[in-house]
Amino acid sequence: MADTATRYTTSATNGKIPDLPPKHQNGASVDNSTEEDPWCNASNPHQLHFEDITSAAFKVKNGILVTPCMKSHLSELTGMEIFLKKDFLQYTGSFKERGASYALLMLPEEQKRKGVISASLGNHALALCYHGKRLNIPVTVVMPIVAPIMKIQSCQQLGANVVVQGHDMGEAKQIAMRLSKERGLVYINGYDHPHIMAGQGTLGLEVVEQVANIDAIIVPVGGGGLIAGVALAIKTLHPNVKVIGVESERCASFTAAIKAGKPVPVPIQSTLADGLAVPMVGYNAFITAAPLIDKLVVVKEEWIAMAILRLVELEKCVVEGAGASGLAAILAGHLDEFKGKRVVIPLCGGNIDTTILGRCLERGLAVDGRLLKFTVTVSDRPGGIAELTKLLSSMGVSIKDIIHERAWITSDIFSVQVKVVCETRDVKHGKQLMKALSENYTNVHFDENVFYGEIPSPLNENGNGVSAGKH
Ligand SMILES: Cc1ncc(COP(=O)(O)O)c(C=O)c1O
Repeated sequence: MADTATRYTTSATNGKIPDLPPKHQNGASVDNSTEEDPWCNASNPHQLHFEDITSAAFKVKNGILVTPCMKSHLSELTGMEIFLKKDFLQYTGSFKERGASYALLMLPEEQKRKGVISASLGNHALALCYHGKRLNIPVTVVMPIVAPIMKIQSCQQLGANVVVQGHDMGEAKQIAMRLSKERGLVYINGYDHPHIMAGQGTLGLEVVEQVANIDAIIVPVGGGGLIAGVALAIKTLHPNVKVIGVESERCASFTAAIKAGKPVPVPIQSTLADGLAVPMVGYNAFITAAPLIDKLVVVKEEWIAMAILRLVELEKCVVEGAGASGLAAILAGHLDEFKGKRVVIPLCGGNIDTTILGRCLERGLAVDGRLLKFTVTVSDRPGGIAELTKLLSSMGVSIKDIIHERAWITSDIFSVQVKVVCETRDVKHGKQLMKALSENYTNVHFDENVFYGEIPSPLNENGNGVSAGKH
């Protein structure tokens, strides 16, 4: 625990964010324990003020893009008037630059020379490295060994000191806190440092200038810094705008915090929305955001994949899972009360690996009922498989993969089992295919788990595999 002397308090600073927490004799702004961050203190959380955000907006305007917030083609599909705030267009591909550049600009001159440190898997590290280089402030990032190689290399190319250590974010953070103490570097928490939250709030200020009469904004929640800043900016200027938080089902740490009345650690599972995989929300973020959030929803993986697909197909936007989760919440039907209303969705990050993007697109197609897998038993006589492929081609179904198995089939020596992965136009087309197969074959089984074993198919509301035909 930090002792009282090393904490700052809101009252002692008149509600303003102090330049640095009190220093040790050697000038290092560090806590007296390796694990504790003096900026983010459980027993003395800092509630952000609107003026912090306006001050951030003024300071960051030279280094940060005012990204477009445009009416979307998705309006028809969703029944809402959707506006997309395209913050993935920032230089390093995410909104994280807003907070990172403000946090760096707010350092005292002496600290600017010494530098900063942080632990991050991706977007925050990239943002810090880029703006550190731009502002000539040394940056050290500790990235766990599970961090994507591409992101590690990008941080190195930006001239940062990149330490690849620790099995996960928890370990990386402990290493970073220790280095912060040893080297006199300020630790910058990527979601809970007050300057980070203030910087993220500038996205909210821009949105209200760009779109009139907003009814709601849907904000992805990881550690809570983005929603804290954005909710405060928007609710201060337009109290009637509803602020909706979205979490991944696999890491619903804000939902857990609301239930417990304080940030609590939750177990996390891997998710497409890796930017949201923070096991415990920040103390400052929680105290700032909790009173301002009107509704919190959690989304399943398949809707995130579907949202990524929709954004590529309809908007020509490549967005990562975390950035697509706002749209995912709408597609999943969690926000139907906003039908006919004007809704803003920040597309807050675009850093998705090409291989993951490919898998998301396939997964989205599967959820959409446009990529189907089925097994059918056909006659082993000449022309048996040809008949099947003729049926598929007559329906405009495109075969992606086909294999047939003879040796292990138990029922009929003159039969062969054929496994097909195919592409259909939509759910309706998929259902027509099922019907045609069941009319022509006695043993057909559709499997919704085309690639990943966990996608409930819209073809079948209860999410189980679908068997058709006369068994
Ligand atoms: C793309 C993207 N969206 C949303 C978030 C969530 O932001 P926060 O951790 O401030 O809640 C993150 C966090 O890394 C992110 O990278």
